[in-house]
Amino acid sequence: MSVQIKKSNQELLNQQEKRESNARSYPRSFPLAIKEAEGIYITDVEGNSYIDCLAGAGTLALGHNHPIVIEAMEKVLHDRLPLHTLDITTEVKESFVDELFSSLPEGFRERAKIQFCGPTGGDAIEAALKLAKTATGRQSILTFQGGYHGATHGTMSISGNLAPKKRVQGLVPDTHFLPYPYDYRCPFGKGGKEGAELSAMYIEQLLDDPESGILPPAAMIFETVQGEGGAIPAPIEWLKEMRRITKERGIPLIIDEVQTGIGRTGELFSFEHAGIVPDAFVLSKAIGGSLPLSVVVYDRELDAWEPGAHIGTFRGNQMAMAAGNATLKYVKEHQLSKHAEAMGDIFTQALTKMQNHYPQIGDVRGRGLMIGVEIVDPSGKPSVRGSYPANPELTSRIQRECFDRGLILEDGGRYGAVLRFLPPLIITEKQVDEILSIFHDALAAAVSE
Ligand SMILES: Cc1ncc(COP(=O)(O)O)c(C=O)c1O
Repeated sequence: MSVQIKKSNQELLNQQEKRESNARSYPRSFPLAIKEAEGIYITDVEGNSYIDCLAGAGTLALGHNHPIVIEAMEKVLHDRLPLHTLDITTEVKESFVDELFSSLPEGFRERAKIQFCGPTGGDAIEAALKLAKTATGRQSILTFQGGYHGATHGTMSISGNLAPKKRVQGLVPDTHFLPYPYDYRCPFGKGGKEGAELSAMYIEQLLDDPESGILPPAAMIFETVQGEGGAIPAPIEWLKEMRRITKERGIPLIIDEVQTGIGRTGELFSFEHAGIVPDAFVLSKAIGGSLPLSVVVYDRELDAWEPGAHIGTFRGNQMAMAAGNATLKYVKEHQLSKHAEAMGDIFTQALTKMQNHYPQIGDVRGRGLMIGVEIVDPSGKPSVRGSYPANPELTSRIQRECFDRGLILEDGGRYGAVLRFLPPLIITEKQVDEILSIFHDALAAAVSE
């Protein structure tokens, strides 16, 4: 009989470092080996407990191992359903589509079609771009500074972050980056309503300029709240303007709901805040109920591609469809969108109060449970807009102090100087208070280091 010798966090991390790719990312900020997880908590192999405010980069709407998710997965196993079906249909799949389509706004529901992708958010964004290019016969893509759409060649090409692009040659051509309404670091130096209006005006003028240098676009794509870009919510009026501008010019609008989707921002789909309907939107993360699943939902008018135009082996993950279906139902039945909004308000109010005592907090922002705190150097020279230089070193120190106190908090945004709160939607008020208290202690410690 072999005796299993338990390894420490450090031993497992050393093994990981030795064997895994240099491209690995999260273990660098969160040096632990996970043993088990439940709800918003995870426990490492040495028995230390952490609050998981990262939640699989916004994936775990119901937290870890929610009983209804486990039950749905167990049923798939119990019923001896095939775990892999390519894109051949099953009752589980049809039931998932019923639930998803019945959640769509009226007017879209009747016109919707769905493409199952394989199975990451990035692959579904690729599919959406191909769909729009095929339907329009055009090639230019309009995308936004600060946007994040994935790490494949194509999605990296339409994402803002320069760091991963610098060493990869030959990105997708005819990709055009437009100014996103980023209040704190407004590209027009204005911020607020005026900054957003200038962005919309600039884009509209650009599209009508016969010398803009941009051929008629196949699509415009954006996140309504830039996630990896630093939890930057676009103003509702700006979202409406983008819909008007694209509609008037016959440009398909693709909304990337990979991170915002399924209740996180306070509506089931984040575009609902603006009362608009895109031509296509992409879901992944929460829609798989913790498992890999991604889809493009789109207006049937775009359905011009040929059989097999977007294939992929892993498009039939029955477990993910069952878990996703159960998650979607639970989010709706328990009005978790509204709960996310309420919990998000508590976060932003408390963080804004902290900002009064800590000038190192340059900005607090978000929508629902997508919240960002931008860390700055208040002794630096302010921009014309009044924003201070980013302070990535302090951001890392706060993140590490949080981790040492048992809080896993993601960073992101320009210069990696935004700390992001992305907890599961089931978080309670008491847990929010607990997170805020840890964050406050970590901030105080990091500032005085
Ligand atoms: C808005 C958005 N789009 C696309 C993606 C890419 O998804 P995936 O990592 O599953 O490819 C992400 C991932 O974080 C995302 O946040």
